[in-house]
Amino acid sequence: MKKPRIIVITGTLGGIGLASADVFSRDQDIVVGIDIKEETDDLVKQTKSKIKDFHYYQADCTQEVQVKETIETVTRTFGRIDVLFNIVGGSGRKFGDGPIHTVSLDAYQKTIDLNLTSQFLVSKYVVTEMLRQNGGCIINTGSVLGMVGGNDMFATSVYAATKAAIIGMSRSMAMTYAKNNIRVNVISPGLIETNMTQRAQGNEAIFAYIDEKQPIYHGRHKLGNPMSIALAARFLADSEADFVTGVNLPVDGGWTAQ
Ligand SMILES: NC(=O)c1ccc[n+]([C@@H]2O[C@H](COP(=O)([O-])OP(=O)(O)OC[C@H]3O[C@@H](n4cnc5c(N)ncnc54)[C@H](O)[C@@H]3O)[C@@H](O)[C@H]2O)c1
Repeated sequence: MKKPRIIVITGTLGGIGLASADVFSRDQDIVVGIDIKEETDDLVKQTKSKIKDFHYYQADCTQEVQVKETIETVTRTFGRIDVLFNIVGGSGRKFGDGPIHTVSLDAYQKTIDLNLTSQFLVSKYVVTEMLRQNGGCIINTGSVLGMVGGNDMFATSVYAATKAAIIGMSRSMAMTYAKNNIRVNVISPGLIETNMTQRAQGNEAIFAYIDEKQPIYHGRHKLGNPMSIALAARFLADSEADFVTGVNLPVDGGWTAQ
């Protein structure tokens, strides 16, 4: 029987996070989920009862002290961190992200914090532990919008900037820490059916656009499945992918091939 790996997933209670917790737990790994939702949230209880060996830590990943303490506690409790799947992030629309001439400095800063500061902080403290244990695997989460522009329905310039930054940060990390046996890759999802994309679901204009952008599902009137992202993460985290580092893997139904 294989030795269970310690898999840390941030944004674990979202659509992609839950699918990923499920996939790694079925692989007999120990899943440590981090999310901003309270420990008493129903979703935490449901996830604990549904997913074997799921351990939950509440933390706001935009706050350095919380991230540092949580990662240190996880390492003390489980002895090591084999894999980080850093999913935390979300749309900045609620803060006012949009076409750049409409974005206030406050909306800009909040969108940067939610998407870039969060993945930076978690990466920073997990790398610190992985340097001590001399190895590990990190998967950060980008987006197709960090690679190509969208039409007016996807004009969130600051979000796009954070996702492009995550791709750059991860490539730099991959080069810096290759000698320490730490692999760093990015998954850039297309439009996936989760809470984050509720705005898009049921919007005929967006569906028509997505039919063109994600041609693998053309005519099927559907978004990507969170499980497709989870299974890509499973591949990148596998020891059989030990030659794969510094990659930005779009999982997007063909969006960025156009
Ligand atoms: N769904 C898509 O179409 C899509 C496309 C491209 C990229 N992404 C990226 O995937 C990631 C998550 O997507 P999802 O679709 O599962 O979203 P989701 O909204 O379903 O999940 C996001 C999770 O992050 C948690 N979270 C939010 N702020 C947090 C914070 N400060 N600290 C800790 N946890 C926090 C939320 O509670 C939630 O559980 C994001 O990085 C997003 O940019 C998603």
